[in-house]
Amino acid sequence: MNSRTCLVTYISFVFLFVYKAMGGGPINTTTGFVAQPLDQSNFHIQKPYNVPLNQRYSFSNGVHKLWVLKTDKPHSKNSKTLPRTEIRFQGYDYSSGVWQFEAYGYVHHGTSGVCIMQIFGSKPPSATTTMLRVDHNKLTYYRNPVIFSNIYDKWFRLNVIHDVEGNNVQVYIDGVLKYDGPGRGGRSHYFKCGVYSQQDASFHMESHWKDIKVLKKA
Ligand SMILES: *[C@@H]1O[C@H](CO)[C@@H](O)[C@H](O)[C@H]1NC(C)=O
Repeated sequence: MNSRTCLVTYISFVFLFVYKAMGGGPINTTTGFVAQPLDQSNFHIQKPYNVPLNQRYSFSNGVHKLWVLKTDKPHSKNSKTLPRTEIRFQGYDYSSGVWQFEAYGYVHHGTSGVCIMQIFGSKPPSATTTMLRVDHNKLTYYRNPVIFSNIYDKWFRLNVIHDVEGNNVQVYIDGVLKYDGPGRGGRSHYFKCGVYSQQDASFHMESHWKDIKVLKKA
């Protein structure tokens, strides 16, 4: 190595060290958390009430696929909400502590105007503490900020951490912190993922999920 290459290499290492020390780069957000046991009973699937489950949901090779059409009915006859096919994680409703949702997600191209993950429960009038939305190839925290561009047709690791007493929510994409902000209060929460139509929805909405974990801080 000549002295010039040596200097460049040295400077690169210094930058990398400073970057890591500043918290840059991907981290494992599950350190200090305990994964809760999950079986089929924890996966409650909400889908348009008038169509069979296999027309809106499939599970194969460990991948949950959920889709819904803009013209679908709500999940129950008396509901006035927009159509959804969502996994509602039951058995781990919480009102205190620090909880984390981890999964690998995938959004089918063209899917737009839809919520793909939520933390249900908040202080009224809001119904949710967190909504991750997809609009035209972008993932946003509610309507803003954008937390992930060019989301279509690729797997990403999603970690959402909710500190109830601290009223704080953090969202990580592939181990990188993308959102850190206040929650919306409330005393009864649970996680959901899938597709829940919002305003300006595309005709077909579809997301895939695998390696789903619900974790609680030890
Ligand atoms: C994070 O750490 C846990 C415990 O060591 C491990 O099981 C898990 O695979 C790690 N996650 C990632 C994304 O590396």
